[in-house]
Amino acid sequence: MAIRLGDEAPNFTAETTEGTIDFYDYLGDGWGVLFSHPKDYTPVCTTELGRVAALKPEFDKRNVKVVGLSVDPLDSHVGWAADIEETQGTKLNFPLIADSDRKVSDLYDMIHPNANDTLTVRSVFIVGPDKKVKLQIIYPASTGRNFDEILRVIDSLQLTAGYQVATPVDWKDGDDVIIVAAVSDADAKTKFPKGFKAIKPYLRVTPQPNK
Ligand code: BEZ
Repeated sequence: MAIRLGDEAPNFTAETTEGTIDFYDYLGDGWGVLFSHPKDYTPVCTTELGRVAALKPEFDKRNVKVVGLSVDPLDSHVGWAADIEETQGTKLNFPLIADSDRKVSDLYDMIHPNANDTLTVRSVFIVGPDKKVKLQIIYPASTGRNFDEILRVIDSLQLTAGYQVATPVDWKDGDDVIIVAAVSDADAKTKFPKGFKAIKPYLRVTPQPNK
């Protein structure tokens, strides 16, 4: 069955390049990103995995653990890691699941048979500390993802988990945010001491509260 936003992220144990992991244990109390790529030793995937490895300090800063996945076996992942390091200049520094039996792929509906009946699509799941799914995106094999966008979404998710705000179009960390409708103008004055501007009664903008 499809996984929807707000659903509990299914737990699993899996063989990875960093040994067998229990997903929940691996995430601990923090956030998680679980993402699939279609196939080892392919060009777009090589660039993606290198980029995720290069961004590890950014994920660490946000208390996010990253896990990759494809249906290739472990020896393939290990051999390919050398190519990633050679061509992208970054060593693989997060676990890559060898999902040859498609256990996790099926659990997370990562194989879309009308796109390809054997390979995973480019799925991304962001999981919160409550183990609920906060975001899901799906890209086709031909389009590499933008992992800066994944970080931007994590910034928004972490901010909006702590404050009664939403983030507007193209928002990035540090930009003004929107006060949610559930907060009255009177409450907004105390909750957002930096003040707010009511462009419309439903569109109230305030400086990012945790900056
Ligand atoms: C790629 O990563 O380049 C790729 C993988 C599978 C199908 C098409 C492209």
